[in-house]
Amino acid sequence: MTAQILVVDDETDMTRLLQRTLEPELGCKVTMAFSGEMALDILDQTAFDLVVCDIKMPGMDGFELLDRIKAGYPDLTVVMLTAFGNIESAVKAIKAGAYDFIAKPFEREEIIFKIQKALERSLLLKENKRLLKDREADPHDLIGKSEPMQRVFDQIRMVAASDVTVLITGESGTGKDLTARSIHALSPRREEAFISVNCPTIPEFILESELFGYKKGAFTNATQDRDGLFQEADKGTIFLDEIGDIGPSIQTKLLRVLQEKEIKPLGDTKIRKVDVRIIASTNRNLKQKMADNEFRQDFFYRLNVLPIELPPLRDRIMDIPMIADHLVAKHCKKMKKDPKTISEPVMDLLMKQPWPGNVRELENILVQGILYSKDDTLRLADIPIRDMDEGKKRSMDPSAMETLSYKTAKEKILKEFNHSYIGARLSMAGGNITRAAGMCEMDRQALQQIMKRYEIDPDKFR
Ligand SMILES: Nc1ncnc2c1ncn2[C@@H]1O[C@H](COP(=O)(O)OP(=O)(O)OP(=O)(O)O)[C@@H](O)[C@H]1O
Ligand SMILES: [Mg+2]
Repeated sequence: MTAQILVVDDETDMTRLLQRTLEPELGCKVTMAFSGEMALDILDQTAFDLVVCDIKMPGMDGFELLDRIKAGYPDLTVVMLTAFGNIESAVKAIKAGAYDFIAKPFEREEIIFKIQKALERSLLLKENKRLLKDREADPHDLIGKSEPMQRVFDQIRMVAASDVTVLITGESGTGKDLTARSIHALSPRREEAFISVNCPTIPEFILESELFGYKKGAFTNATQDRDGLFQEADKGTIFLDEIGDIGPSIQTKLLRVLQEKEIKPLGDTKIRKVDVRIIASTNRNLKQKMADNEFRQDFFYRLNVLPIELPPLRDRIMDIPMIADHLVAKHCKKMKKDPKTISEPVMDLLMKQPWPGNVRELENILVQGILYSKDDTLRLADIPIRDMDEGKKRSMDPSAMETLSYKTAKEKILKEFNHSYIGARLSMAGGNITRAAGMCEMDRQALQQIMKRYEIDPDKFR
């Protein structure tokens, strides 16, 4: 399969140059867009593996485009083109979620290398996603011996027997989906449908007809009557995933379902009774949303009859070995690989991470580890995390973490920048520091200091 790259730059010379360079070299297909708006149109129609995008463009600039891509296509890898020497914008790009940046003007080798790296990352993510997606979530997957998880299990058993509405809260990746499935699987409705609706992925204007169905003629393309997900879930359970993100008009309509147990299909005059158990989840702070008038209070109280709060993984470290072993066994089996054991240093490292993405992040890391691992053991080299001072980060307050990540991002970028900038001059000067310093318009001592700081070895360029 040919990799698809979208290059976005208002300077047509630049897009052409990239096309001429990358297509023959990487065997990929490069599509050109000359504005942010045009890029979004193209992205809407075709799937891409990578977007390369300039920052300075008239109309929608690169940062806005990056934001829109992150919102609409969160898994898409983006590389930004920055003006030479503009460290601030490079830092900003990385912080806003770009995978990498390339300073203009660039060397042919540099751009090929960086784009190739970005493509590899994107393909790995895709493979990862495919492997994760075709898992049928199994309620037995929800495991943990820690005290907070035992409490969750008690709550699940308690609510399963009745029809009460349950609101599951917790950070992303803590197991909200699995918890909802477990409740259904233990409930008297277990033989009936379990319908899961991922609210934020469905545009608001479609969500209503998806949930409640519609009558023929309700809108232009409604050529026949159609049942909604509530009718499909009749006698079973509906899981409204990430309900914190839905708009006020749907909130009002759902409130009615909760109060009256009835729905009204779009364009219909009749109201229908439904027998559906509702479970909702959110990783948002709904109390805050209520304070900001973004979430209806009466709706919240109807939803929050029985709350279940999933603890973040960092508050149940003792569960990590068990969960990690379970996930490795599960994915080895799925990938038709022989079972693998997690080495002790890897397990120690896993237990030291702050896991902002919780079990989902742990699972991602382990899947990558399985893909990289060559024998029956997962070793440190197979795992895409390093033993940094993560422990320190954990105890910091969020603003300190922000500064830290800003600093690390900036330091990384400065390092890369200096390596490529000074490296290029050194190689032109055949490793002669005095001559290279002259090219950088610096004195020899100053350049030497920078080289020492960024561990640039002049001998490599002789
Ligand atoms: N306690 C657990 N034991 C084993 N696996 C778990 C546990 N919790 C979650 N997982 C696994 O982690 C992944 C994420 O879980 P799930 O989708 O239920 O979380 P979520 O809170 O809905 O996440 P998101 O907010 O990203 O939608 C799943 O693959 C699930 O199998
Ligand atoms: Mg979920």
